[in-house]
Amino acid sequence: MAELTAVVHGAAEVATATGELGGDDPAGLRSDAAVAIVDGAVAAVGPTEEVTREYSPENAAYAVDASGRAVIPGYVDSHTHACFAGDRSDEFEAKLRGTTYGELLAGGGGIHRTVRATRAASDDELLGNLLDHLDVMVAHGTTTVEVKSGYGLDTETELRMLDAIDRADDRHPVDVVPTFMGAHAVPREADEPEGRYGEGDPVNADDYVERVVDEQIPAVVDQGVAEFCDVFCDEGAFTVEQSRRVLRAGAERGLTPKVHAEELAHRGGAKLAAEVGAASADHLLHATDEDVAALVDADVTPVLLPGTAFGLGADYADGRGMVDAGAPVAVATDFNPNCHSQSMGFASALACVEMGLTPAEALVACTRNGARALDRPDLGVVREGAPADLAVLDAPSHVHVPYSYGVNRVATVLKEGRPVVGPEWTGEASGDPGDGAERGGGGEPDV
Ligand code: NIG
Ligand code: FE
Repeated sequence: MAELTAVVHGAAEVATATGELGGDDPAGLRSDAAVAIVDGAVAAVGPTEEVTREYSPENAAYAVDASGRAVIPGYVDSHTHACFAGDRSDEFEAKLRGTTYGELLAGGGGIHRTVRATRAASDDELLGNLLDHLDVMVAHGTTTVEVKSGYGLDTETELRMLDAIDRADDRHPVDVVPTFMGAHAVPREADEPEGRYGEGDPVNADDYVERVVDEQIPAVVDQGVAEFCDVFCDEGAFTVEQSRRVLRAGAERGLTPKVHAEELAHRGGAKLAAEVGAASADHLLHATDEDVAALVDADVTPVLLPGTAFGLGADYADGRGMVDAGAPVAVATDFNPNCHSQSMGFASALACVEMGLTPAEALVACTRNGARALDRPDLGVVREGAPADLAVLDAPSHVHVPYSYGVNRVATVLKEGRPVVGPEWTGEASGDPGDGAERGGGGEPDV
């Protein structure tokens, strides 16, 4: 029999995220609204009086009184590198003193440092670190997150990372979408076991690309975890030709392409994303109008990562220009040791203040369009039939998210209708919050 999982009622506002970017009502706002959830999916969204007449909160396993509050879709954070070991807070200080990201990388720091720490970490440590980050994410309203490998740069560690990502997905209420990113950096000879590569430092990038194509991709496909294949197509990383070779090899084996494009310099990654039909082109700080037009034509989602520009002290991607050009812009955290924020609320604030999006556009970019970048069009919206992943704010409107920069306004999170964060639901509580989940529960139901 169908279960009335939850009724969220009396909300000052439900932002359904179903409107058009650049239109009058991107957030698809409903005022004095309720959401009824049956078997974990949205069964009705509309005026509280109407919805509760059909779906009484008294009959729900969880009833959430959202009076005076806003309800938004759970965030879909479509770009992170959240599986890693080690600490690079000293590099944050070095960057403040003027050292560039490229200098750190070229000197064996940056990604290379995280590669050393990640290779040395145990499986349990990698999993535990990732679960800790997922706890922070869900507390900030994220209900689906993409996590990339790419701190292994050898087959064994890439597979270990993907295995940790897969286990975290099983163990945590947040859904984790796995991406293989063996082409995240060219490994340094100094970090490699003796004899793996010939003389010379750094390792020959073409040789490494062959290794990614011949060894890593087949092993990753056999493992069966990864869904996407990403490459760092940039200055100091991989050329367009090398990136194309990796993405085509991945696509031939069923891995959907994604591209880190035009982050540190303009190198042609955006056009490559369009050429190979990537799900997304990410960063785009140096993207041109022509690049954006190519992405729009090829239906590639541009994923903007304002936290990265913030941390690098770099110019931001032109989010406003992309929205005006008709691009389905997504915004994500890029959480990684170089951009240490798991907060989609903070990314929203930067998207508004630094990239010119409205709060409603930022909301859509962080929810529905994030889901688009992950080929999950059913997520990131509050609409009949969609999985009921919701965040209830301790504020009356979605505008309070960017308005309250630096402050977490997420009070309650429901994953498929079940509370996983927050103390304020009432009702029969047929299960524990986060039922079936081993991590992430935020409190006991108030019964
Ligand atoms: O998306 N740019 C490349 N990769 C990451 C940074 C990874 C790191 O510095 O550890 C990014 O910003
Ligand atoms: Fe990244």
